[in-house]
Amino acid sequence: MCGIVGYVGDKTAVPILMEGIKKLEYRGYDSAGIALLERGEMVFQKNAGKIKVLEENLAGKRFTATCGIAHTRWATHGEPNDTNAHPHTDESGRIAVVHNGIIENYRSLKKYLEGKGHTFRTETDTEIIAHLIEDNYDGDLLSAVRKALKRVEGTYGIAVVCKENPDEIIAARHGSPLVIGSGSGENFVASDVSAILRHTKQVVYLEDGELARVTPDGFSISTLQNVEVTPELQEIEWSLEQIEKGGFEHFMLKEIYEQPVALQNAQRGRLDFEDGMSRLAGLQLQLDELLSINRVILTACGTSWHAALIGEYLIEDLSRIPVEVEYASEFRYRSPIIPDGTVVFVISQSGETADTLAALREAKRKGATVLGICNVVGSTIARETNGGIYIHAGPEIGVASTKAFTSQIMVLSLVTLLLGRMRHMSIEKGRQLLEGIRNIPTQVQLILDNAEQVKRIADMYCDHNNFLYLGRGINFPVALEGALKLKEISYIHAEGYPAAEMKHGPIALIDENMPVVVIALKDQVYDKVLSNIQEIKARNGRVIAVASQGDDEIKRLADHVIYIPNVLYHLSPMLSIIPLQLLAYYIALNRGRDVDQPRNLAKSVTVE
Ligand code: AGP
Ligand code: GLU
Repeated sequence: MCGIVGYVGDKTAVPILMEGIKKLEYRGYDSAGIALLERGEMVFQKNAGKIKVLEENLAGKRFTATCGIAHTRWATHGEPNDTNAHPHTDESGRIAVVHNGIIENYRSLKKYLEGKGHTFRTETDTEIIAHLIEDNYDGDLLSAVRKALKRVEGTYGIAVVCKENPDEIIAARHGSPLVIGSGSGENFVASDVSAILRHTKQVVYLEDGELARVTPDGFSISTLQNVEVTPELQEIEWSLEQIEKGGFEHFMLKEIYEQPVALQNAQRGRLDFEDGMSRLAGLQLQLDELLSINRVILTACGTSWHAALIGEYLIEDLSRIPVEVEYASEFRYRSPIIPDGTVVFVISQSGETADTLAALREAKRKGATVLGICNVVGSTIARETNGGIYIHAGPEIGVASTKAFTSQIMVLSLVTLLLGRMRHMSIEKGRQLLEGIRNIPTQVQLILDNAEQVKRIADMYCDHNNFLYLGRGINFPVALEGALKLKEISYIHAEGYPAAEMKHGPIALIDENMPVVVIALKDQVYDKVLSNIQEIKARNGRVIAVASQGDDEIKRLADHVIYIPNVLYHLSPMLSIIPLQLLAYYIALNRGRDVDQPRNLAKSVTVE
């Protein structure tokens, strides 16, 4: 998520660091900061806002430092303000750390360090790393970092500098990418090669559990267990542009492929197998408050509204609490009835959507407890809600939302589990759901591995001007989302319908020119969906079915079958949407559309 750059060499560090983090701004841009080893002192500049603000604050100041670290943040813990911006320091201000990732056990480490007299200045999880290193520091920075990291649980890519070791950067990785760039008389650290590509194409990718000691003359790599590792230099062949998109042609495709990791991040540290529960401290609700919830309203716009519809099936079926879903734009202008015990969830990737924000304020005005399900930390919606759950999907750049959608469903599944287990759901059922949730990232990867087949289908159908998407039960909203994806990026007219509703009107549209995408999984509505497919075939429609692995019967009916792994009915939308995202992407690509920035749309709709 965040961007990290480190430089140690014979040149002035500031321009190299600034240019580097600018290349990483797409990873996160809510605040930025820099730490320099300037004439025996450590100097800092940290600012909320885009890198431009940091740049303005550095303008006019003359620095000669030849060693430093810089960071562009995408906050997970604590608002994006000046204080929470990285680098973070230890008690004495000698050690500075930039971090990408999440320290899961930061609360217990904080308690431990507070017990030893440390005081904390920020709300971040990152700050504990600096204090923990200080706690282990006796002049050898590498060894102190190693000892500190042995106590840390979670994910990190870090770069550390210390006033007393002015020509040295220590870098370490576990779960968040980090690369060492090799130059002559200078070396680099970065969370992404694009940041240093202008200076060197010779790099070493750190593996999980490895640390690097980087100086102007070279670098050495060792493991957390202090075993030397022989660095394997690689030559980068990609262009800068290719690399920012991780080698993908578009951010949308990159984000589709990031879903296994995003879905892992959305559940990280939140599964409690012992009690068959989920842990969602961010809701900030006491036990009695959770128990007194007797009505849920889910409100959102666009793709997030589709996630809300899926939330309705989940919460009503499994938690047995009545749910209403409402477009935020409608909610804000009605006079919604909000009796005691009502909880309103506002769902928003950006956390800035004007209608959703207005709905939030209206719900609060009427006395509801309002909770957020957001991606962007510290966004307006995240700040104004009474509590909430971040989906931790990482920056979503493509205008068409993909990984945020599946991550929202993941979080809604966890909410369902929590509310359900406090009511009717047995521990066994809870564990079964948890098991299913745990498997989702791997299953999504299996579907992505089969993208070629979806691409072939897209090649065949890209010239059609109308599409119908059908699904039933919890996969009806997936049909809506599949149609929206196609509309947004290919400008093809597409409609989503509950499959049974087809014969009440849309069936009139069906002929040999109408491709119909049907989600037909082996679940309780399977036979009904099969009948709907028969009805389409009887009118010469072309059927592209998304079906359950092992279902041979459907092959006889549908023109094309895209198989997805077997999954619990309630979790199936996180899988069934993947082929539909790919289909929309490849059709738009075939039509030569601007996939990441489709006409007339904006990533964050901050106007009414
Ligand atoms: C999704 O592909 C859209 N571009 C759009 O519908 C989006 O989901 C909607 O504007 C809501 O955005 P939010 O989640 O940031 O609030
Ligand atoms: N957890 C750190 C923070 O909140 C780093 C965030 C990230 O990597 O996205 O500042």
